Amino acid sequence: MRSTISKKISNRNTRITEHPILRFERKKKVRFFFEGKPLYGYETETIAAALVANGIRVFRHTDKLHRPRGFFCAVGKCSSCLMIVDGKPNTMVCMEPLRPGVKVKRQEGRGKL
Ligand code: FES
Repeated sequence: MRSTISKKISNRNTRITEHPILRFERKKKVRFFFEGKPLYGYETETIAAALVANGIRVFRHTDKLHRPRGFFCAVGKCSSCLMIVDGKPNTMVCMEPLRPGVKVKRQEGRGKL
């Protein structure tokens, strides 16, 4: 049952397309990679927003208890979204703009250089 629900969520596009006050202009569609898998996002969004829109909820696992962490504050204050971006660990993907071809990986524990 749980895997069916997870599958439904991961197949759904969760981007906000309409809003009563805000406008979301979509710029160029870009391809990027998550764990080696190609995904698509838009140039104006952050890596975190593109991952969530593609159904990715877990960005890292904590060091001691290996608990999953994901998008939380979305303003660079909590460190919940630390990931490995183009080989650089501890990157706050909620603050990092999406670039074509960027390679993103889940971070396990503390980032190692
Ligand atoms: S989600 Fe809090 S720092 Fe990125």
